[in-house]
Amino acid sequence: MTISGTTVLITGAGAGIGLATARLAAERGAHVVLTDRNEDAVRQAAETIGGRAEYRVLDVTDPASIDAAVGSLERVDHVFTSAAGITVGPFEELGEDDFRRFFEIKWWGQYRVLKAALPRIPRATGSVTLMSGYLYRKPELGYSAFAAVNGAIEGLVKSLTHELAPLRVNALAPGPVDTHASRMPADEHAAYRESVSRRLPVARPGEADELAHAALFLMENTFTTGITLDIDGGIR
Ligand SMILES: NC(=O)c1ccc[n+]([C@@H]2O[C@H](COP(=O)([O-])OP(=O)(O)OC[C@H]3O[C@@H](n4cnc5c(N)ncnc54)[C@H](OP(=O)(O)O)[C@@H]3O)[C@@H](O)[C@H]2O)c1
Repeated sequence: MTISGTTVLITGAGAGIGLATARLAAERGAHVVLTDRNEDAVRQAAETIGGRAEYRVLDVTDPASIDAAVGSLERVDHVFTSAAGITVGPFEELGEDDFRRFFEIKWWGQYRVLKAALPRIPRATGSVTLMSGYLYRKPELGYSAFAAVNGAIEGLVKSLTHELAPLRVNALAPGPVDTHASRMPADEHAAYRESVSRRLPVARPGEADELAHAALFLMENTFTTGITLDIDGGIR
């Protein structure tokens, strides 16, 4: 039950939870292939990790870039699909285009990468970890697009657990995780942390490393399949 010596493919690995997972997987001896649409970010991430980490530019909305990146790998033992964007707003104000844009990345992006990687994953020993999120089963106002995609991902996991067996297929469902520090003005970031801290039993947002720890559990634990693992600070 170790990922040491295996190849781990991660999308959205230029930042946030994907990057933290790439770092931890490399520390545990995996050969990590970081992918992201942002070349500078993913190159720097791979260079910082060093060792056997490598990177590919992969935009999950672009099938050609997925085929090129995944096609360059002979074998992929574990796949973790962390790439996503954001669509927030009242349902009545969001248009079909807004929903389609979000589904294009978070739903179709995971679908495409999974389809491309499947022929390279050893069924008996590999794993797939898809990304859901707390907003499906613990909804918040303004996040209907997240709720819809996350619900679809969790449904897919239940189905694929049987269809692709013995391949293990799971989902990770983070609660609010502070991956925003570098992308928000300081006062907005402080307000975000305060508002999350008020709502969570652990009284703070999660850290990307805490989600990486859980993603590695799903890759390594050979008796775990068909679950969505909530790592959410107890949010209800
Ligand atoms: N953070 C949370 O509170 C939270 C809570 C629940 C669920 N989640 C889920 O966890 C996952 C990761 O979240 P995170 O907070 O780690 O996000 P993040 O910090 O924004 O990292 C996501 C990475 O994916 C990249 N990306 C965006 N669109 C892409 C595309 N089309 N192709 C390839 N890469 C793309 C981003 O690049 P750019 O910088 O260029 O956009 C970024 O490097 C998402 O599925 C998210 O919905 C997060």
